[in-house]
Amino acid sequence: LWTTGNIIEDGISAIRDEVGDDEVILGLSGGVDSSVVAALLHRAIGDQLICVFVDTGLLRLHEGDQVMATFATHMGVRVVRVDAGERFLAALAGVIDPEAKRKIIGALFVEIFEEEAGKLGSARWLAQGTIYPDVIESAGARTGKAHVIKSHHNVGGLPAHMRLRLLEPLRELFKDEVRRLGVELGLPSEMVYRHPFPGPGLGVRILGEVRPEFAEPLRRADHIFIEELRRHELYDQVSQAFAVFLPVKSVGVMGDGRRYDWVIALRAVETVDFMTARWAHLPYEFLDLVSRRIINEIDGISRVVYDVSGKPPATIEWE
Ligand code: XMP
Repeated sequence: LWTTGNIIEDGISAIRDEVGDDEVILGLSGGVDSSVVAALLHRAIGDQLICVFVDTGLLRLHEGDQVMATFATHMGVRVVRVDAGERFLAALAGVIDPEAKRKIIGALFVEIFEEEAGKLGSARWLAQGTIYPDVIESAGARTGKAHVIKSHHNVGGLPAHMRLRLLEPLRELFKDEVRRLGVELGLPSEMVYRHPFPGPGLGVRILGEVRPEFAEPLRRADHIFIEELRRHELYDQVSQAFAVFLPVKSVGVMGDGRRYDWVIALRAVETVDFMTARWAHLPYEFLDLVSRRIINEIDGISRVVYDVSGKPPATIEWE
């Protein structure tokens, strides 16, 4: 019989049989899949699970602290947090090409994860949040969740004594099943039903070079947009929504003064499969409110635009 409860019970006993007393490492991103794996493994093997959370500095506002609060503080999961923002910024300095940025972010993520895993020398397993659609589709280049360690069966940079075996407890499940499992395991529903967020994070939402002075206003603008979507009960009606930083200066006026500041683009789409999408027809009054808040509350932003492009031909992300 297929129920969420059964999947959890069966999953737990299968995990216990498989790993025995061994320690398991998991790269926790804060996304739905790795979060559900963390919750499931924690329930199955408790302290034998060690999560590594790499804060790339390219996450959304307060996201790193939220991941730590949920897993370490509330659930008592062992989580090693690595604050790697400076390293990511240094690696991305001067890089403009989107695919080059993706490669740099993905490679550095793996490097940092391997460093941390290498310090946890007694672990024998590497857990991953692979779900069924990942298994079937694994060829797609653009969906290649840049910062999941997917193809790392014998994680290359690790010392020879650390031959990690792969543990993928969600391999047979679809996204909606994974979400139901997450709720049943006690994860907050805002986390489980969050819009997808790309592995390279704000790294591909700051067009061109990634700079800290661009990341900061982008994070705040994105936060305002999402907060208002939730407040107006529009969040669950769109499939994905976010802000993009355009490194373009535009003229504005404020009081007697003239400003010459940056531009934020808002993007919200409706889609079933993310292969095609239509731009969300959000109410004008709502867009007006979000635009005013962003311009009034964030220094350095003088203009907000709304993206009215469908996919195809435009992609959902701007890079
Ligand atoms: P596009 O922009 O290709 O996006 O229409 C389709 C979906 O994929 C997400 N996306 C990514 N996810 N790494 C990821 O993990 C990436 O490099 C990446 N690029 C796009 C995007 O957010 C959307 O949900």
